Amino acid sequence: MFSKISETVFMITEEDNDLDLFESRYPIPDGVTYNSYVIIDDKVAVLDTVDARRTDAWLSDLEKVLGERVPDYLVIHHMEPDHAANIATLASKYPSMKLVGNERIFKMIGQFFDQDYADRRVIVEEGSKLELGKHTLTFVSGMMVHWPEVMVSYESSEKLLFSADAFGRFGPADPSYDWVAGARRYYYNIVGKFGKHAAKLLNKAASLDIAKICPLHGPVLEEDLGKYVELYVRWANYQPDIDGVFIAYNSVYGNTEKAAFALAEDLKNKGVKYTISDVSRVHVSYLLEDAFAYSRMAVAATTYENEIFPEMKFFIDEIASKTYRNRKVGIIDNGTWGPAAGKKIAEILSTLENIEILEPMISIKSSMKEDDRRLISELADKLAQ
Ligand code: FEO
Repeated sequence: MFSKISETVFMITEEDNDLDLFESRYPIPDGVTYNSYVIIDDKVAVLDTVDARRTDAWLSDLEKVLGERVPDYLVIHHMEPDHAANIATLASKYPSMKLVGNERIFKMIGQFFDQDYADRRVIVEEGSKLELGKHTLTFVSGMMVHWPEVMVSYESSEKLLFSADAFGRFGPADPSYDWVAGARRYYYNIVGKFGKHAAKLLNKAASLDIAKICPLHGPVLEEDLGKYVELYVRWANYQPDIDGVFIAYNSVYGNTEKAAFALAEDLKNKGVKYTISDVSRVHVSYLLEDAFAYSRMAVAATTYENEIFPEMKFFIDEIASKTYRNRKVGIIDNGTWGPAAGKKIAEILSTLENIEILEPMISIKSSMKEDDRRLISELADKLAQ
């Protein structure tokens, strides 16, 4: 489907409601959208394509938007195939169309499509402009938000920021869908590892007068932009959204679960906001989002074959890989013949920036006893501070 951003700028958005895992990793129960934009002026520019799963719908919508016009340019902000899959298709449909991108983008075009389009390239870099008539696009590097070749562009006559993956979200096209619910999980899982680069891009964008943000996923943002930018700045700087505790636990026979819920009960009694998840039963992308969204974390883990229980290990490795930082963490472990999980979790977390492991670290032997329960209350006191 397509919609007008203005009389001369169009958004083509294709919904994908039947993809099980985005990037073969992330469940998207509410789907995702792939956005492409068209600027109709003296020259016509198509901005990005869509995933191969929606080629036919996109080409049909594009023809309706273009009418009798033929695109002069395809502007490529990002080469990940959810946006770039149809470059060769469009280039062959419109042989006079030039391709606009930076050196890295053209290198990746060669890798994906085995064609170099040498005589059709318009190579741009930081600050380059593309004049379309009344509209002018200025290119800004968005390196590592989320791949190294990423560019964003600013259209000055209508104050539009074409932001690539930044400000994108999971979920349907419907603009009333909770933006934070779709955007925060998207950000921390897909862009979060590169927070420094996201912060750098946001700094550059701060000098621009932006009326609308046009991302490659999710709706165009046009009201209360400060709210979205404030959230993005917070996320890029690894600051929490929620003052409270995320409790992540695993449990083989229910004993570790009892300890985790005892901690939750104490926090509840102290009026501390918390959420609790079983890492064996909640997809790691949601766990990771909560780990970053909350200001503190507690983990309750069993030892499994002298190691951290596998699903818990995967979760801890995931947050470490996304450079989890600036948090206090409480640790409870459980083991019948040699508890080791807590020590191993602390070893991983202690390699990260500004992580404080709270005392007491609690090690349960098989099932929670009175002494364990008392220590859990002590830990709850620390987590409540
Ligand atoms: Fe939506 Fe990095 O692609």
